Amino acid sequence: MLNWDEYGKEEAVSPPVTSKVKEETLAPSTEAQQPEPPQQSEPTASSESSNIGEGSRAEAARKAVNAIDEKAGNEELDEMMANAGRVQVDQKMMINCKADLNQLVPFKYDWAWQKYLDGSANHWMPQEINMTNDIVLWKSEDGLTEDERVIVKRNLGFFSTADSLVANNLVLALYRLITNPECRQYILRQSLEEAIHTHAYQYCIESLGMDEGEIFNMYREIPCVARKASWGLKYTQEISDPDFKTGTEETDKQLLKNLIAFYCVLEGIFFYCGFTQILSMGRRNKMTGTAEQFQYILRDESMHVNFGIDVINQIKIENPHLWDDQMKADAAQMILEGTELEIQYARDTMPRGVLGMNASMMEEYLKFIANRRLTQLGLDEEFTGVTNPFPWMSEIIDLRKEKNFFETRVTEYQVGGALNWE
Ligand SMILES: [Fe+2]
Ligand SMILES: [Fe+2]
Repeated sequence: MLNWDEYGKEEAVSPPVTSKVKEETLAPSTEAQQPEPPQQSEPTASSESSNIGEGSRAEAARKAVNAIDEKAGNEELDEMMANAGRVQVDQKMMINCKADLNQLVPFKYDWAWQKYLDGSANHWMPQEINMTNDIVLWKSEDGLTEDERVIVKRNLGFFSTADSLVANNLVLALYRLITNPECRQYILRQSLEEAIHTHAYQYCIESLGMDEGEIFNMYREIPCVARKASWGLKYTQEISDPDFKTGTEETDKQLLKNLIAFYCVLEGIFFYCGFTQILSMGRRNKMTGTAEQFQYILRDESMHVNFGIDVINQIKIENPHLWDDQMKADAAQMILEGTELEIQYARDTMPRGVLGMNASMMEEYLKFIANRRLTQLGLDEEFTGVTNPFPWMSEIIDLRKEKNFFETRVTEYQVGGALNWE
């Protein structure tokens, strides 16, 4: 065992610490099972060598710190850096960047940093919302119609796992492949928001005393919910393999498709039927706590969608060869598949008119949203002559919250800011 006496001797006679010494220092010792009592040593003038009241673990820690090689890891760093040293703005790239990703500034994408600031200023927690009226209404015999109850359960069923799928895609697949620190900063913020959203759904499910097993398994057991989930999952699977690397046209396009799948379809289309249904309920003074949770979530989601679209458009600018006719066709196909799945979900959750809306109105709304997603990516609209049958939804999201960098937006948020229904 290395004790203080040996330590001093070694310091005096040994050459600079080698990796062998590091191993010895860190390796568990059989004698460590019975640690020796701390040894007192003579006080010294130098604070560096003070070991007053020190035990063997502190001693081992100090030896390990002294053994740190500041150069360790720099080979990898050197490899990453096109020009070793301080990062210049024009070295920064959205994908396949070779510059040091640990240097947040100078910013290249100010809009990404601004979204991080805006998202942080919007911070909220599910417990801040009063659920008392929802609990009374949900548990009363004639509080809600059967159709309204289906809508609440299906949406909590879909969203309670959908946000986990989004979070998993961010942290297990996307984060390492987006090679820009200010965008990664926003992705970290978004990941926290997705955790808060999952918490919000769980909080509603628990408050209302629902069968948790039934709700959390809908994404596997209810076909119209399961189809949406599995549509998204395949795009995560493609790029979440630790060996997956961008840098070829094929893999760069796979990453681009993942971004389109998650930001334009999952968050940009799959959330819209459910949000509209629950917010409509809130406007009719039913399930107002749940509706308020959804409204806070929708405010976050609008920013997620805009961030994703900005990232996609930036990748297109930096890598125009990726945005060829085939990729444009594939992107449009993905958005239209998502629209079709969401229309099926609308029909399944609204077999009859409910809450002043029906499946046909929702279909028109989803086609209106699909046109918007297509044009945001620079693609032609698909559905001619469709208008928005729910202008109040536009008032909540499309107009005030959904302006992105490429469209000019000025919206101020602050922590704890109240939400307005009208
Ligand atoms: Fe979310
Ligand atoms: Fe999101």
